[in-house]
Amino acid sequence: MSSINPHGGTLVNRIAAGEQRERLLEESLHLTSLTVDSWTVSDLDLIGVGAFSPLTGFLTEADYNSVVERMRLENGIVWSIPITLPIDEQAAAELKIGQRVALRGEDGIIYGLLDVESLYAVDQRREAVQVFKTDDLEHPGVKKLFSRSSTYVGGPITVLNRPQPEKFGDFYFDPTDTRRLFAEKGWKTVVGFQTRNPVHRAHEFIQKCAMEIVDGLFLNPLVGETKSDDVPAHVRMKSYLALLEHYYPESRTFLGVFPAAMRYAGPREAIFHALVRKNYGCTHFIVGRDHAGVGDYYGTYEAQDLLRTFSAEELGITPLYFEHSFFCKKCGNMATSKTCPHDKSEHVALSGTKVREMLRGGICPPPEFSRPEVAQILIEGMQEQPAHS
Ligand code: ADX
Repeated sequence: MSSINPHGGTLVNRIAAGEQRERLLEESLHLTSLTVDSWTVSDLDLIGVGAFSPLTGFLTEADYNSVVERMRLENGIVWSIPITLPIDEQAAAELKIGQRVALRGEDGIIYGLLDVESLYAVDQRREAVQVFKTDDLEHPGVKKLFSRSSTYVGGPITVLNRPQPEKFGDFYFDPTDTRRLFAEKGWKTVVGFQTRNPVHRAHEFIQKCAMEIVDGLFLNPLVGETKSDDVPAHVRMKSYLALLEHYYPESRTFLGVFPAAMRYAGPREAIFHALVRKNYGCTHFIVGRDHAGVGDYYGTYEAQDLLRTFSAEELGITPLYFEHSFFCKKCGNMATSKTCPHDKSEHVALSGTKVREMLRGGICPPPEFSRPEVAQILIEGMQEQPAHS
């Protein structure tokens, strides 16, 4: 088994199985049910499998306030993103502390149960400013926050049914699976890589730098909800498979998805991403430039600076920090300002908008920016998409 401790010491398991599941499923039919969106179903499942250890449910008011104010649960354990369950005010008025409710997806399936421990109203503006460092509705995370109710319900959960992936089901692994698989591979050190983008040369470079010092790479793309102009997960998955096939040694890489929603919370999300990858069994985690950022809300290295304010013991996973990387024509290779002395004009730099424009027009970005096999898949993926995204 993996040698790295889960966050908080124990890998949470709140997935009902066997007779207990049968009994709870029967009970759930007689309970008040709350209809929850796919974002909540994803959070529920990730809590259930222990990806969000030590959380055993949606945050109660005390934990919520503590996370929002000081990036810790009430017991002091580091936790940076509030995992909450907003419900409409009317539904909340009918609930009582101690009551058990069924959580029903929009598809009618009962995904789990919640034991109501806390019902509370929040100041969303405070949450936005604390978590996202802005209350600007142009920020996708803030927009999402304000689109949900400001009444939250907290308490422990039990998962009864797992969400079924539509595509790439073979790449879904729970933390118990990844921990076992890393151990079977004999990997003592594993670096986790979060991404919501295709893997371009810059990403490849920092992954491979990390691979020089650890036993294996866990390529762990986020495939939950993302904003509409991010490349869709199924297109990215195809591109990761092509990249791994052509440019990575099979014995040292492992691809598995992270089925969580993207929050775009920059620095705070970097902490969250690292802690979750620890739960999946990673010993190291890559944090490059503007990790989980969007627009220009966060400084290039703000996520790294925030991570540095926590001790190695309380994080329990080692962040590997990388500077902004690029291809330098003079150096003839990938580099960062730490290793390249040349002028910016020698660097191959393309904005996300420019790359999207090229791909949409069927033009491959230069091979110094993207592997041709990856670019081709992205071009094909773009054809499937409406013009705005
Ligand atoms: S993220 O929202 O998931 O962080 P992205 O998929 O672009 O976005 O980034 C994945 C990881 O690669 C993050 O740690 C990010 O900081 C890093 N990264 C992305 N581009 C670069 C780059 N050019 N140089 C260095 N690090 C980068």
